[in-house]
Amino acid sequence: KRRTTAKNISSMKGGTPIVCLTAYVTPMAARLDKHCDLLLVGDSVGMVLYGMDSTLGVDLDMMIRHGRAVCRGAKQALVVIDLPFGSYEESKEQAFRSAARALSETGASAVKLEGGVEMAETIRFLSHRGVPVLAHVGLMPQSVNSYGGYGAHGRTVDEWQPIIDDALAVQEAGAFAVVLEGVAEPLARKITDELKIPVIGIGASSACDGQILVTEDMMGMFAINPKFVKRFAEIGLAIEGAIESYATEVRSRSFPEEEHTYKMVGSNK
Ligand code: KIV
Ligand code: NA
Repeated sequence: KRRTTAKNISSMKGGTPIVCLTAYVTPMAARLDKHCDLLLVGDSVGMVLYGMDSTLGVDLDMMIRHGRAVCRGAKQALVVIDLPFGSYEESKEQAFRSAARALSETGASAVKLEGGVEMAETIRFLSHRGVPVLAHVGLMPQSVNSYGGYGAHGRTVDEWQPIIDDALAVQEAGAFAVVLEGVAEPLARKITDELKIPVIGIGASSACDGQILVTEDMMGMFAINPKFVKRFAEIGLAIEGAIESYATEVRSRSFPEEEHTYKMVGSNK
């Protein structure tokens, strides 16, 4: 089967929902690849793998390192690299330089960046120069300091228009799809109905054309989790259980056993 392209994702508008998850490392990417249409190397990597308390400290080199790892594992899904804070906002030229590195140094075939109306010119510049762009509007984690938190958007109708304007602007600029994060269902439904490109929701209801979550969140890696995350597994507990068993068996000398132990050649000792 051939690799999914940005064009293929665009053509999934209004059809079977588009399945997306984040990926940061090779072995997980290989497992995700079988089931997902799109893998996002999210700048959430800074929080999920490095313990940062926001995505602001992530840089392009970190994204490229993880992008390369993901591309080694993913053969079918479209791999999208998040452009990190500070790598694209200054100018469309800066954005292109960063995007060109993100694609040429990893093997990924699209980038994502946060912003609506204010990023439209940049999205147009990139998408007309060989860089498919996944836009990201609604709650934008890189703007946490301006917005003042990670609360949902569009929960009163007077908040709707700027978000609708953002969604229309990124579509008009040539984004192949848009991530819509942290908005009330009626707004998500309205934007999904109005746009001709797929709307991929996170905390944005079932009305969207697809869904994305942070893989570690949906697998139950962390103790706390936001309202919009369903825990499809409890890997945090599974990991802790395995480590506890190992520690107990090492301390009681019940591991390693015979089957884990090398013998001398030609001997049973
Ligand atoms: O960084 C990230 O993981 C994202 C999401 C859309 C999940 O931007
Ligand atoms: Na992100």
